[in-house]
Amino acid sequence: MTVVPSRFPIRQNELYETEPWATKALLRHFPVAGMRIWEPAAGNHMMADVLRDHGATVFTSDIAVYTREHDRIADFIRGLDAGPPCDGIVTNPPYGKGNREAVRFIERALAACDGLVAMLLTAKFDFGKTRLHLTRDNPRFLGRIALVDRIQWFPGATTGTEDHAWFVWGAGRPAGARPILLYEGKPA
Ligand SMILES: C[S@@+](CC[C@H](N)C(=O)[O-])C[C@H]1O[C@@H](n2cnc3c(N)ncnc32)[C@H](O)[C@@H]1O
Repeated sequence: MTVVPSRFPIRQNELYETEPWATKALLRHFPVAGMRIWEPAAGNHMMADVLRDHGATVFTSDIAVYTREHDRIADFIRGLDAGPPCDGIVTNPPYGKGNREAVRFIERALAACDGLVAMLLTAKFDFGKTRLHLTRDNPRFLGRIALVDRIQWFPGATTGTEDHAWFVWGAGRPAGARPILLYEGKPA
């Protein structure tokens, strides 16, 4: 993540685990039942488990193993192989300094998958001239889902310190359509 609570160390490989409600917020708008989804930064499968519970066949990979085994151990950015056939890629990638790792993850995901690409990112990810090729100027960019509740990344923390949003790409927008903006949060 770009910003973490000051009392917490930056975690190795940026392992931050996504609370299930945040993934469910995506799936209310982009259902994955029957789809083959690649989770390429799977961590401890917090997101992969929700995708599977909602009917997807999930292929997991990550650069490292924590408590859960992956289908493959792979560096998603620098790995050379094509990955599994899939209908979608969904993850919460490492962000890196200035979001540069996140940019590389998205570029790699768009190259690897012609269908759904959904990335959980900091809410202001699209506030950046160097990222317009992924958002404003990208005909595959479908829009974003602003999360109006904050994700709790650390056990014991009462709330997160940063706003996040889902950024979603697809095969392409219909002619004349603009990216959409949606709002989601924890169920009441
Ligand atoms: C923010 S965590 C997300 C974990 C999981 N997707 C979730 O939401 O609970 C980022 C994950 O990316 C992995 N990672 C970091 N760099 C990577 C790379 N170059 N290729 C693949 N995975 C990487 C880390 O090991 C970590 O599990």
